[in-house]
Amino acid sequence: MPMRVAVCISGRGSNLRALLEALGPDAPAQVVLVLSNSAKAGGLELARSHGIPAIVLADFRSGSEMLGWLEQNRVDLVVLAGYLKMIPPEVVARYRGRIINIHPALLPAFGGPGMYGGRVHQAVLDAGAAESGATVHLVDEEYDRGEILAQERVPVLSGDTADSLARRVLEVEHRLLPAVVLAAARAGRPVPLNQPAE
Ligand code: GRF
Repeated sequence: MPMRVAVCISGRGSNLRALLEALGPDAPAQVVLVLSNSAKAGGLELARSHGIPAIVLADFRSGSEMLGWLEQNRVDLVVLAGYLKMIPPEVVARYRGRIINIHPALLPAFGGPGMYGGRVHQAVLDAGAAESGATVHLVDEEYDRGEILAQERVPVLSGDTADSLARRVLEVEHRLLPAVVLAAARAGRPVPLNQPAE
């Protein structure tokens, strides 16, 4: 049986699209549910166009609501793909070791509360970093702190803006997240893909 995956989104869903494109009909993992804290999330329509239930949470703080949807859909793995809200502690407890997040920087740097979207890339540029990249990590009770499962670097180029850097990192994200999900499906749980960038 394929690993049953729920994807949580807050925005356009380009990582969700990359995952759906990577998981063909015979893949060892299938997206069976999409959850969002926002009815404006562009990824909801993408999910519906693939025949996947796409749910706007009435209260994203409610652990019982989120657990209800996850258990009703017999979800094995929860993927945060541009989901900007904290996962309720009851959900973290019930799905410990089976929730992953993609972050557009080389954690542990440039992560934490408020570090999302353009802010991350602007912080990388303001710090004068020579490299950035993407990180997939396990999710626990703190933002962006869980065990790192995979990272890939990209160069920061002179003349880069937050947008141009974000585009370069997003290309890597669209490869890294499906690779971690496929490795999790083969191993039965999320496992490290490669060593964190030193
Ligand atoms: C991605 O850069 C992801 O790393 C971050 O939020 C962004 C979401 O993009 N957490 P999308 O909605 O998947 O296009």
